Amino acid sequence: MTNIVQAEVDGHRLTDDEAGSFMVLLASAGNDTTKQATSHAFKALTDNPEQISWLLDDWDERGAEAVDEFVRWSTPVIEFARHAVVDTEVAGTPIKAGEKLVMFYCSGNFDDEVFDRPLEFDVGRTPNPHVGFGGGGPHFCLGKQLAVLELKHLFRELLSRLPEIEVAEPEYVHSDFVHGIKRMSVRKL
Ligand code: HEM
Repeated sequence: MTNIVQAEVDGHRLTDDEAGSFMVLLASAGNDTTKQATSHAFKALTDNPEQISWLLDDWDERGAEAVDEFVRWSTPVIEFARHAVVDTEVAGTPIKAGEKLVMFYCSGNFDDEVFDRPLEFDVGRTPNPHVGFGGGGPHFCLGKQLAVLELKHLFRELLSRLPEIEVAEPEYVHSDFVHGIKRMSVRKL
């Protein structure tokens, strides 16, 4: 935040309101997303305990790929909207400048033209060209590296300290934006 507040572009700094909004964006974008990825991935792992053993056999080597699958599987951000700035075409559909369109990450991450067995959770999936952090471009997730680091460390600890755990069916958040779990009971076996 210090860097953001002090940054100057062409002699201009962000106003207090802009810096404040950016702080709120960072806090909310960096909070719910990793939280939801953790809950969904934990549920998927406990549903597939053989994948926990496989991961723990060599977490340092297998953890990074697993985190990609955690994010693909959980797709914590369901969609974002954009306004087209120029006339264009997407998969044969013409789009006019100014029109609003929606990017459904949940759809992209389960596209059977891109993924083999998309409806299966597979921590060894490679390649894994998911769009859970966006599809590239200037608005690509600013916190991706931090999120991957957090999830890698968190799951190494969770899985090694609590390898035997039972998870109840979750209660989901009703939202078309955040793929969220509201409540999920967890019990150590
Ligand atoms: C598993 C965790 C996360 C997921 C799934 C996720 C997902 C996303 C997605 C889909 C976007 C929109 C990309 C686009 O429109 O092209 C985005 C943007 C953003 N994310 Fe994340 N994110 C995560 C973690 C974080 C963290 C930890 C931070 C920061 C602490 C963060 C900060 C941001 C910010 C600031 C943006 C807006 C970037 C912009 O519009 O220029 N995210 N994220």
